[in-house]
Amino acid sequence: RLPVLFVTSKLPALAQQRLEALTDVEVRQHTSAHAISRTQLLEAVGDADGLVCILSDKIDAEVIQAAGSRLRVISTVSVGYDHVDVNALRRHGGISLGYTPDVLTDATADTTVLLALMAARRVKKALQTVANGEGGGFSLSTGLGSQFTGKTLGIVGLGRIGCATAARLLPFGITRIVYSGSQPRDDRAQPLNAHYVSFEELLKQSDLVCICCPLNERTAGIFNRQAFAAMKSTAILVNTARGAIINQDDLLEALDKGLIAHAALDVTVPEPLPGDHPLVRHPNCTILPHIGSATEETRNAMSNLAIDNALAGIKGQELSAKVDL
Ligand code: GLV
Ligand code: GLV
Repeated sequence: RLPVLFVTSKLPALAQQRLEALTDVEVRQHTSAHAISRTQLLEAVGDADGLVCILSDKIDAEVIQAAGSRLRVISTVSVGYDHVDVNALRRHGGISLGYTPDVLTDATADTTVLLALMAARRVKKALQTVANGEGGGFSLSTGLGSQFTGKTLGIVGLGRIGCATAARLLPFGITRIVYSGSQPRDDRAQPLNAHYVSFEELLKQSDLVCICCPLNERTAGIFNRQAFAAMKSTAILVNTARGAIINQDDLLEALDKGLIAHAALDVTVPEPLPGDHPLVRHPNCTILPHIGSATEETRNAMSNLAIDNALAGIKGQELSAKVDL
């Protein structure tokens, strides 16, 4: 039989056309607007040679154990792969993991800057004022935000996205960049004149903190009560990485107490947050529905790379972008 490529969701139009035109594999796809069910996912991996999945598909030990002997590759259409149990994959053996770095760097850094500006200029409040027909138009003394001129930017995780974010923010007049992470990245830091500091030091010094690191056992919940207490009361926190890097109960408390000025989040736990969640309702919290990489250009590029990875894996070839297991 032809190898089976199972795809857990609909792809953006151009990549979808390419997928449907493939002739060297049999494509099976979950195309409904509702996420694939657990049962369907377990069944799919049992019979497929390759799986293309997205970050809301939980590829845990149970799914990996349900993989049939034909499964050679799991290819996620995302740069983050915290939804995949890599330890279980390693134990299983014989299945490669593809992901989509680089192609989403610009779009995600753009979103990070967008959120930083929305927070700094209090855009959530401003939009509400307009929508409610309130306020008297121009005001010299109300609705005032802050600007980045002369400020310190803190990047948590100076990876590709962290670098692209810093490079975009520098022309706004940022005068100092600090970064934290598991190790100094001199090659990346030097062109930005970014300084490696401890996480605690970054929290203390930064006016704008951007979370650009992966979610893993080192970063889960690092933005907790203690971290918020260390931050400036005027600080803005932007998260375009993963929701679980922030302890949301502690964030809510920090916003209520005014320990930080504003949080702007593209990612939350869960996604989406219910509309009546206190963070959604909070005047000092701006939330987007995980649109970091959501441009036509980037989502097609991600999907194409994920298809490339899956096809290579099925054929037993080297993946264009693979996670080292
Ligand atoms: C999006 O969050 C991704 O990991 O690609
Ligand atoms: C994350 O993977 C990044 O590219 O920064």
